[in-house]
Amino acid sequence: MLNKKIASMLNDQINKELYSAYLYLDFADYYAAEGLDGFANWYEVQAKEERDHAFMIRRYLLSNGHSVVLEAIAKPDKTFKTLLDPLEAGYAHEQYVTSLITEIYHEAFGQKDYRTMQFLDWFIKEQGEEETNADDMIKKFKLFGSDAKGLYALNQELAARVYAPSATGPAM
Ligand code: FEO
Repeated sequence: MLNKKIASMLNDQINKELYSAYLYLDFADYYAAEGLDGFANWYEVQAKEERDHAFMIRRYLLSNGHSVVLEAIAKPDKTFKTLLDPLEAGYAHEQYVTSLITEIYHEAFGQKDYRTMQFLDWFIKEQGEEETNADDMIKKFKLFGSDAKGLYALNQELAARVYAPSATGPAM
């Protein structure tokens, strides 16, 4: 069994990951409506990865004898004025998620819960990658997005992203 507070923080994180999936699906819908199917594809794949993160945490709780309480998922409430807006919102969101994972890690460290720390190691690394990806998207958009040909090429590049379930999940 895990410490109650850690189990509760992990349970909350399931909701946050599912919200992330919802948020990115909303981004995908925005880009689809703008005719940028490549951008939409990139965020659809991202939404699937976020859903997977929720499932991984759910599995960890269940494997450790905890029940899971699924809470309501908040409605994404962002409105976008420019094509850059979702990219910036995505980067800010990933930084927020990193802070949440860090808080759980910090609690696990304080409780000498080395198992949960080991479990979260995968998420710490994943967050580093997700922040880098989000930042790269902004940089590329700023470089190429203002020109129609550049935007077309960037859209083609993002269309190539393929969803692949994570081969190496976190330690359970
Ligand atoms: Fe599951 Fe993008 O954090």
